[in-house]
Amino acid sequence: MKTYAVVMAAGKGTRMKSDKPKVVHEVLYKPMVCHIVDELKGLGVDGIYVIVGHKAEEVMKLVDGVEFVMQKEQLGTGHALMQAKDVLGDKEGTTIVLNGDAPLITKETLQGLIQYHNEHQMKGTVMTCDCDLNKKFGRIIRENDQVKGIVEYKDCTDEQRNISEMNVGEYCFDNAALFKALESVTNNNAQNEYYITDVIEIMNHQNLNVGGYKIDDLSEVGGINDKFELQEATKQLQYRINKKHLLDGVNIVDMTNTYIGRDVVIGHDTTIEPGCIIKGKTVIGNGCHIGPYCEFDNVEIKDNVEIKFSVIADSIIENGVDIGPYARLRNHCHILENVHMGNFVEMKKATFGKGSKAAHLSYIGDATVGENVNIGCGTITSNYDGKNKFQTVIEDNVFVGCNSNLVAPVTVGKNAFIAAGSTITDEVHEDAFAIARSRQVNKEGYSKVLEEKRQMEQMPQGSIHERLAWGARKSEMENQQRKKNKTKNREMER
Ligand code: UD1
Ligand code: CA
Repeated sequence: MKTYAVVMAAGKGTRMKSDKPKVVHEVLYKPMVCHIVDELKGLGVDGIYVIVGHKAEEVMKLVDGVEFVMQKEQLGTGHALMQAKDVLGDKEGTTIVLNGDAPLITKETLQGLIQYHNEHQMKGTVMTCDCDLNKKFGRIIRENDQVKGIVEYKDCTDEQRNISEMNVGEYCFDNAALFKALESVTNNNAQNEYYITDVIEIMNHQNLNVGGYKIDDLSEVGGINDKFELQEATKQLQYRINKKHLLDGVNIVDMTNTYIGRDVVIGHDTTIEPGCIIKGKTVIGNGCHIGPYCEFDNVEIKDNVEIKFSVIADSIIENGVDIGPYARLRNHCHILENVHMGNFVEMKKATFGKGSKAAHLSYIGDATVGENVNIGCGTITSNYDGKNKFQTVIEDNVFVGCNSNLVAPVTVGKNAFIAAGSTITDEVHEDAFAIARSRQVNKEGYSKVLEEKRQMEQMPQGSIHERLAWGARKSEMENQQRKKNKTKNREMER
């Protein structure tokens, strides 16, 4: 039998007080709606339908591998579901329906819901939890295994508000029965909305079997309505993720000050120091030492790598590499085995060969660097002419002296040596020595002359005799200077 999933994500989320639609707000650097869709993909359903409405494009650009259903006006969760009738209404199977604002839901819990629904041969099953009576969730009206109805908090009598079993907003239905029941849903209630929750009572009227699947832990399905609840969910997810890594053998020095995204994979005996943000599809191997204060986004790090105080995105780092403090890598860098990349080094779209070093203050962009290359302090690849980017190729065993400019496009052949301070604009051949800077000029004794000049600029504080002597010396020097200038001018005229 086929299983489908509908995610209701069309609401505005007024209480978020934001220009963005609610479901794009991030929990640990991942939009709420993506958490849910990824979990559904992991569950392996036959179709995922996401209902979008308020600022739909902003939601749609974040999600792929699903079918979108437009709900132009947001008239309630029941109305949201009715919009899926055209694409889903005539299908046979089981449909789970999820609130878009409960991103911490797991596939295991959803599996439990579906299993309960199937084993008890239900036509509808609502996920419930015993909650604090202050919660404004819909209350569950139960008779043994049968759920007779759900009453929204705003529509409850005082007596109903004392029911602790509440609707957490995740449901499982027989698909045909769901769309049939939806036809009878009206907006005759406190909020004038079409409630999905009314489907339960309607199914009861149709003598269908409707049940409740009660879970113990509300943290997965709390529902996020404002930024405080967003923060609470973030903390819960952080705890859940970090605890799992700790149990898998990762050393996390301070789990309250380490932010690891839900899709990150980390090997055993890797240490994560405080202040790290590790997100996207980052994979870190075994025995690494990461942090303090690193930010990684989609980075693949192999084993025994050490990285401190650095920002890295969309790059691959091979075994035994040592990076930082204060390095930055972006746009598909590939750092090969045993590289040392030190303080204030930036690389972009660069391959940096085995055992090569860039220990301090360099920019290497659009470059291919071979093995055992030494990039001296302050070396820069000048890859941009204001319009286009150009490639620099540095072959194996090259030594680049400090403060060199490599003006791309340029190639430096194997074993070449570049003198410090060179601006390299032409190809350097294999085994060559390149020096490209103006020659040094030494003016013998001139530093003394400079000192004398400096002293003559200020009248001394001493006696009248000293000051008179200074005046005489000064005018003599000025006369000499005038004569010199005249001779120079005459020479130039000739
Ligand atoms: C809903 C339930 C309530 C339950 C609670 C659990 C209803 C009527 N009530 O209330 O019983 O206890 O969840 O968190 O369903 N949405 C749409 N289109 C709409 C309205 C909402 O797509 O027209 C989406 C929202 O984007 C959101 C989800 O549906 O992701 C839930 O809507 P929300 O307004 O938050 O429902 P609650 O009032 O929390
Ligand atoms: Ca809600």
